[in-house]
Amino acid sequence: LHILASLLIFWNTPTTAQVTIEAQPTKVSEGKDVLLLVQNLPQNLIAYIWYKGQKTDFRHYITSYVIDAETIIVGPAYSGRETVYSNASLLIQNVTQKDTGSYTIQMIKQGDKTKGVIGHFTLYLETPKPYISSSNLNPREAVETVILSCDPDTQDVSYLWWINGQSLPISRKLQLSGNNRTLTLFGVTKDTAGPYECEMKNPVSSSRSDPVTLNLLHGLDTPTISSSYTYYHPVEVPKLSCLTDSHPLAEHSWLIDGKLQQSAKVFFIPQITKTYRMAYVCFIHNSVTDGTNLIIKSIIVPAELPKPYITSNNFNPMENKNDVSLTCVPKTQGYTYVWWVNEGHCVPLRDQVHPLPLDDITCGFILFTPDGPDFPRIFPSFTDYRSGDNLYLSCFANSNPPAEYSWTINGKFVQSGQELFIPQISTKHNGIYGCSARNSATGRECSTFKMVIVSGNDWPFLTPLGWVSLGWEQHVWRKTPDGLS
Ligand SMILES: *[C@@H]1O[C@H](CO)[C@@H](O)[C@H](O)[C@H]1NC(C)=O
Ligand SMILES: *[C@@H]1O[C@H](CO)[C@@H](O)[C@H](O)[C@H]1NC(C)=O
Ligand SMILES: *[C@@H]1O[C@H](CO)[C@@H](O)[C@H](O)[C@H]1NC(C)=O
Repeated sequence: LHILASLLIFWNTPTTAQVTIEAQPTKVSEGKDVLLLVQNLPQNLIAYIWYKGQKTDFRHYITSYVIDAETIIVGPAYSGRETVYSNASLLIQNVTQKDTGSYTIQMIKQGDKTKGVIGHFTLYLETPKPYISSSNLNPREAVETVILSCDPDTQDVSYLWWINGQSLPISRKLQLSGNNRTLTLFGVTKDTAGPYECEMKNPVSSSRSDPVTLNLLHGLDTPTISSSYTYYHPVEVPKLSCLTDSHPLAEHSWLIDGKLQQSAKVFFIPQITKTYRMAYVCFIHNSVTDGTNLIIKSIIVPAELPKPYITSNNFNPMENKNDVSLTCVPKTQGYTYVWWVNEGHCVPLRDQVHPLPLDDITCGFILFTPDGPDFPRIFPSFTDYRSGDNLYLSCFANSNPPAEYSWTINGKFVQSGQELFIPQISTKHNGIYGCSARNSATGRECSTFKMVIVSGNDWPFLTPLGWVSLGWEQHVWRKTPDGLS
């Protein structure tokens, strides 16, 4: 120590040289040995001194080698595991995390009155494989805060985090500590449950942890039932599924008439043939979060459908400003909804000019899709009548919903209804009879015409119709002369 102290007095300004220092092996892990190999030593050296850190002060002095005396002198920073060789290299045995960091070698020349030649080296250990520790691996969704840390706590490494294989998004829900070793998750949700990986990195190595995903506990919100209908057509009665978003999975029970019927997610309603009205309660329980909830589902299979009515999100819309949605309620399963605008003059809604006068809109539902009408047919099909006969015609066209019928004679409206009855007709009832079938749901209308010729004592008028009728009579007359005698 005396030698060193006297030497230190004369070192003033450092000079640089092409001294190189490298670690052998370049990657060293904890518990192994590493040699800090010094190359291109300057000439005429008398001593080398190794320091831990950047400073060449006595407190950080590890060991030195005095060439002339072939002597090693150890200092306050010596741990007992460092060996300096005559060629200036430093062996560190059984390295620990504490050995990482910078080292300085000071080389003193013969007759040098400066600080000598200084060389620096930073020793990094191979990073251990990190693992993620969590303050809570089973947090309750959205309410609990979780702290993740990347372990072991290691010197001279930087920490990086990944979520779902991506770098962390900027979010108020995620907060890194100053050195990035811990990550705080506020109110963990599905988006922030992971999987997380952390990485430790230094200039010589990096290593990544296994992924960790938080097991979010959540539930129970009010469940939903697979079918949102209340009214059903008998053939359409569904199975009911009680749907909940819960982790771990909730237990389901069905209460019907206050009695526990079944512990299952799906409930099969037996075939219903007559009017039926029942309330089903799906009761759910999550034993981990101790959450419970229920939903009540009414099923009505009516003998007759309920009277529909219209609800709106806005009954007082502002002209040209508000969109209005109208809903035909109640919801029915197996029926099709039909809208009528302006008192049954069926115009497809999309063609309407807005705003729609709500007073004029009605709705209803029908079984199966609206269709038709097809061409109507008039029964009976024969056309010749005798004066004094009763004329009885009926008209039918396939249509869903059933068509509305109306009758015309020679283009003039006579009456509505599916049947036309005129007692004791005479030749003045000759003419073209038309039946119109109209489907208010599809907005389509079809007409068929039929000739009615009444033969009688009167000679037909010489109207265009008369001529036709005359021709016909002649035809009949030839075929059955007795009938006209
Ligand atoms: C210095 O000596 C050590 C121990 O004998 C040896 O391993 C190392 O290779 C030497 N360094 C140089 C630069 O020769
Ligand atoms: C290495 O150091 C650890 C403690 O730091 C010690 O338990 C172990 O015995 C040492 N191994 C050798 C080979 O010196
Ligand atoms: C922490 O990580 C951020 C990126 O996520 C990075 O910008 C910052 O430099 C890191 N801080 C430290 C001390 O490593």
